[in-house]
Order: sequence, then structure tokens, then C-alpha cells
Amino acid sequence: MCGIVGYVGRRPALPILVEGLRRLEYRGYDSAGVALVDQEGLWVAKSAGRLYVLEQQLDFTAPQTRGLGHTRWATHGAPTEANAHPQLDASGRFAVVHNGIIENDRALRKYLEQKGVIFKSETDTEVLAQLIGQLYDGNLERAVRQALHEVSGTYGIAVMCTFEPDVIIAARKGSPLIVGVGQGEHLLASDAAAILAHTTQVVYLDDGEIARITPEQLRLTTLDAIPVTKAVEEIEWTLEQIELGGYEHFMLKEINEQPEALENCLRGRIDLAEGTVHLGGLVDCARELTRARRIILTACGTAWHASLVGEYLFEEMARIPTETEYASEFRYRNPVIDDGTVLIAVSQSGETMDTLAALREGKQRGALTLGVVNVVGSTIPRETDAGVYLHVGPEIGVASTKAFSGQVAVLSLLACYLGRRKHMSAASAMQFITALSQIPRQMREILQRADEARAIAERFGEHNNWLYLGRGFNYPVALEGALKIKEIAYIHAEGLPAAEMKHGPIALITEGMPVVCIATAGVQYEKILNNISQVRGRGGSVIAVATEGDKEIRRLSDHVLYVPDTLEPLQPLLTVIPLQLIAYHAAVLRGCNVDKPRNLAKSVTVE
Ligand code: M6R
Repeated sequence: MCGIVGYVGRRPALPILVEGLRRLEYRGYDSAGVALVDQEGLWVAKSAGRLYVLEQQLDFTAPQTRGLGHTRWATHGAPTEANAHPQLDASGRFAVVHNGIIENDRALRKYLEQKGVIFKSETDTEVLAQLIGQLYDGNLERAVRQALHEVSGTYGIAVMCTFEPDVIIAARKGSPLIVGVGQGEHLLASDAAAILAHTTQVVYLDDGEIARITPEQLRLTTLDAIPVTKAVEEIEWTLEQIELGGYEHFMLKEINEQPEALENCLRGRIDLAEGTVHLGGLVDCARELTRARRIILTACGTAWHASLVGEYLFEEMARIPTETEYASEFRYRNPVIDDGTVLIAVSQSGETMDTLAALREGKQRGALTLGVVNVVGSTIPRETDAGVYLHVGPEIGVASTKAFSGQVAVLSLLACYLGRRKHMSAASAMQFITALSQIPRQMREILQRADEARAIAERFGEHNNWLYLGRGFNYPVALEGALKIKEIAYIHAEGLPAAEMKHGPIALITEGMPVVCIATAGVQYEKILNNISQVRGRGGSVIAVATEGDKEIRRLSDHVLYVPDTLEPLQPLLTVIPLQLIAYHAAVLRGCNVDKPRNLAKSVTVE
């Protein structure tokens, strides 16, 4: 959603800030702004709309070597130039960029108005800027600290002022911030992508911390001014990973990266000789996990679909009762968490507000908490007791693709890990992880036939209603296929457990309606063939995803997309790929903005 970038150093700041903002575009935003600062004053440019609109007003030869940039996703007030960040105080000497929401902004606004402050925007951020301006007595850090003691809500903020132009004060509560460490320079960002071109050495801020950043020095303290010492860490992502690299869209790049991403995800974790799985992040809680009596998986969107695969995996392989909960529901219910409950938060970004809140709720009620997260150093893994990273590399496209397969792969590893601690024999674990290690190669085979999925998109791309049917492990894949085509091609689609169709949705089927049926080999194969006949009997066009070598399916379906054979619990890793490709090509053919679909943000950090 919103994005922050800051720079204090020796180089002209503006190109660095704008490049950083460009790299944050994928997160979604509706206005943008920059501020440069020196002793003379603050120089600010803001605009509603895309970054290129802002760029038209900028003089890239500006000499200032300090500044802030922001992309805003409107919450308080419309996406206008006035509401864009940086927000200034009344004197025009203090600039604030802010991610998050100040909850008591109305009370603070009233208080400041009574003191004669005239507001220029509708934002909660301006309240903070005005408050800092009022509290300043010659020390910016102290003014920010005092202001933050007055506010409730969430924030990742960066503040600069003309009185101390060498200094950025940054603070975090519930909204991520990273300080990049360079030679005679420091950068600040809400997302590593913004600074990766300049440094891979970073310090992650935790909630309740304030950073005082100058070109030469980074000093961390708590909100109560207690010094904090932290190690500089290395970001494992590379610049190539966040660039298009010849692809037309990040989504297509990330679909194609899945074989390599899975190799990275599995590397060092599979022990074929021993028939076991090593998950370094779980070492400290191995004993507690062995005693787990119930698992709750909690997530949103695609991560929820991956979690549902996890539920099937845990019950099948580890025989542990498991539920998958929408994080947004879980956090406001009165969930029963008893002794032996393990709560697993699954998230690509590690910042999704609902998932984070569900995690906190589970933790407060005594659950052992694990994170299955992609972004290293993000909030969820910082708050869980233990966890497993996906290691699939940065996902830039708003539509989650390689994160889904990474999540399913990690949950498969975890199911095997737990299974081995319960009743699973080394032989069956060996069979499972051998099949898992084949998945990247099998994914490559599917990707080589990507044209077949494209042909389906060409044939049916104009239809505005689709159904996706699956059973067992492929039921969550049906949900995921439907979500993909909805979010990027703006096609209405429903994903269903195939047998549910006859309880209502079958009424929707009309002549030629595309119905994607995942009909791979497995215990429910015959059942899904019956569902296919029911669809065809009503005139629907069946697009089957089937196991290579299945000739019968050709006779029963209008179109077949084959995937290689694997164990049933691992099929989602393969069957999802044709569905991702269909959604991608349908979106391109319909002229949609694939990587930045309307109304969507990559990471949903508000309710
Ligand atoms: O970062 P997270 O995995 O927590 O995000 C959860 C959902 O917001 C996300 O999966 C969303 O549904 C994607 N747009 C799906 O493609």
C-alpha cells in the first residue's frame, strides 16, 4: 500500500528517491510526493495519480542531498495533491511521510485548531506534522518522540526539518521500516525493493523504535529513549529479481520463476537419504510441535488457499486436526485455543494487517505461533515464536503466483516434518520428498506448454462468467484459479468443491460457459468425471486439467491441459500453473493492467 523512501548522503537525493518510489509502485498507490531539504528550506512536489505525473514537475538536477519520498494509498481523505505526502506543518519547515493510520487524529486536530493551526489537508499525517512543528524546541528527535507519545494507531514515519537538514527521524509502530547502510550515506524505506539498487546492508526497525539517521550515523532508541543495539543484516534479494528481465509483466516472470523458486525453497531442507525434512527455523520448538494436538492455519486471499492445501496435508500426513481460518474472521471471533494448539500465519508479505491481528489474537490466547512467510524481516516473522521462510524471492506482481507454490511447498515440508514425528514411516516420507524434489522439473514441463493455456484464454477470454471445480487437494486450486482470473482479468469466477455444484451453482451453467475442472488422477477421479458429465449435460464447455497419459478425459472434455503425474497431495503445485497462465493471458487479451489491477494493493496493511 503506502511506500516510504528517504535518503541522507552525498549524492543528489531526487533521482534516488524517485527510483525508490518507482520500485514501490507495485505495492499500489494513488498519489505520490517528494521533499528535498537543506538549510534554505523545504522543496516539495506532490501529485495525485501515477508517479510519472509527479516526475513531470521535477527538476532532476536539484543539488540537495537529503530528502523523503512517498507513495500514498488514500485512507484519510481523497487521493488529491493536498492529501499526498509529505505533509508539512504550518511553518513549512517540517515534513512528514507516514504509512499507517493515526486513530486519535480527530481529537488531536481539534486540539491543534484550538491553538490556531489551520489545516491544509484532510489527512491524519498532517496532524502529526503540525504536532511536531508545535513541539519543536531545537531537537527534532525529541519533538518526534513527544508527538508519538500523544498518538495512538499505527505508523511507519520519517520526519525532516530545515533546522536539522542532515537528519531523518524515523519511527515504527505496526508499519515496516528498514534503514539501508551505505558508504557515507543512509537510506530509509518501507520495503527493501526501494533501496536494493544502493545497498544490501540493512537494519530492520522493530515496533516502538526510533532511528536518528544522518549520512554518517545511525542511532536507535526506544520510544522512551533507551538505546538499542542491532546488527546490520544482509538482504538476500538481488536487483535482477525485482526487475522485469525481458518479461512483459512481473506476473508472467514470476509464473515462469516457479521451478527455480521451488528449488530455492527446498534447498537444504530435504534429506532424501534419511527420508526426513530439516527446518532450521523450527529447531527451538521441535518438542512442542511434536506434542501439537491441533493446528489452526490463518491467512487471507491466495495465502488462505495455500493454507487450505496445508490443512489437507496436515490431516493426511501428520493426522493432526487442522482448520483453516480467514484471518479477518478469526481475529474478531472468540476462538477456542486450548493446550497443544499451534497457530500458523501464512503470508507472502508478512505484513497483511488481518493476518497479523489473527496471529496476535492466537498468541495472546496461548497458542504456539509459527509464520510461513516470504519477506524476511517482515512483521509476522518478527512476532511469531518460530517459522519457515519461503525463499522464493521477491514477488512484485499483485497477483500472487510463486508465493502460492512456495507456501504449498513449505506446508508440504512441514506436514512431512510433523508426520515423521508422529506415525509416518521413513519409507513413506522418502516417497513423498522424492516426489517433492521432482516438482521443479515437472513445473518446467508444464511451462514449456504455456501456449496451450494461452489458447484457452484466447478461446474463452470474452466470457464474463467462469466456474472452477476441484476435489480434495485440488479444491483449493479451484478457488485459487477463480481468484486469479477475477483479480487480474476482471472476470467473474467461482471456485467450488466439484460436488457442491449440484447444490445450487449448476443453475448458472449456460451454453458455452467455461468450466475449468481439475481432474487429475486420484481417489476422486471417477467422481470428477461425473461432475464433468453434469457440466456438459447443461451445455458448459469443459476445460480439464488432467494427468498426462489420461486419454479418457479427452473424450469427455472440450479441452485438456495436461500436467505430469505426481502424488495426489503434491498435485496443487502443478495444477495451479495452467490456471495462473489462463488468468494471465485472459488479462492481457482484455487489456487489463496485469501487475497493477484496479483497486488492489500488493500488501493489504489496513483493515
Ligand atoms: O501478503 P499476503 O500473502 O499476506 O497477502 C494475502 C492476500 O492479500 C494476497 O494473497 C492476495 O489475495 C493476492 N492479491 C492474491 O493474488
